[in-house]
Amino acid sequence: MNNDPNEPKLLDHDADGIKELDNNLPRWWVWMFYLCIAYAVGYMVYYHVLKIGPLQAAEYDAEWKAGEALKSAAIAKFEATIGTLEPSTDKALLGQGLQIYTTYCAPCHRPDGGGLVGPNLCDDYWIHGSNFVDNVKVIINGVPDKGMLTWRGLLKPGEIHAVASYLQGFRGTKPPNPKPREDQAPKQTGPSPFE
Ligand code: HEC
Repeated sequence: MNNDPNEPKLLDHDADGIKELDNNLPRWWVWMFYLCIAYAVGYMVYYHVLKIGPLQAAEYDAEWKAGEALKSAAIAKFEATIGTLEPSTDKALLGQGLQIYTTYCAPCHRPDGGGLVGPNLCDDYWIHGSNFVDNVKVIINGVPDKGMLTWRGLLKPGEIHAVASYLQGFRGTKPPNPKPREDQAPKQTGPSPFE
C-alpha cells in the first residue's frame, strides 16, 4: 500500500521495512541505453553473422604481417647499401652503439672488447676481415657455427650501424688479458692428405 499520499513515487511493496521509490530515469540516459542495444545488435551482425569485418585475431595477424613486411623491406634496403656504409662519428649514434654493445655483445666480447667467448675486437687480427663493412656483415649474418649470433631482425639496421661504429673505437686499444689472436688456421694434427 502506498501509505504516503505526498510521495507518489513510493511503490506498493516493501521488504523488511525497506521501501522502493520509482524514480524515472532521465530521458537522455534511457536513449543511451537503447542506442547501446542497437549498436550491439549491429556489431554482432557485422562481425559474427555476416562476418564483414575482421575479428581481433585476424586484425592482429594482418598488422603483424604488415609490420614484418616493413621490417624486411628496411633490412633489404640496408643490406643493399652495406657495401658503401661508412662508420659514423656522431656522438648520439656512438652512445646508442655503446648501449647496444653493453647489453648484447659485451657478455661474449667483454665490455672492453678484449674477447671472451667471442674474439678480441681491439687487435689487428680479424677472422672475417678488418674493414668496417666486414664487421657489419658478420654482425648482420652472424657465424652460427662458431657461436656468433645472427643479429638480422633482432637489431634494427640503424642499431647495427650504431654498434658497428662503436666497435671502431676499440681498434688499437690494449685491454688487459686479451684473448689471443684467432685468425690463424688450426694447427695441423696428423699428416696432410696433399703430401
Ligand atoms: C654468444 C656470444 C656472442 C655474442 C652475444 C656476440 N658475439 Fe660477436 N662473435 C662471437 C664469436 C664466437 C665470434 C667468432 C666467430 C668465428 O670464429 O668465426 C664473433 C665474431 C664477431 C665479429 C668478427 C670478429 C672477427 O675477428 O672477424 C664481430 C665484428 C662481432 N662478433 C661483433 C659482435 C657484436 C657487435 C655483437 C653484439 C651485437 C656480438 N658480436 C655479439 C660471439 C658472440
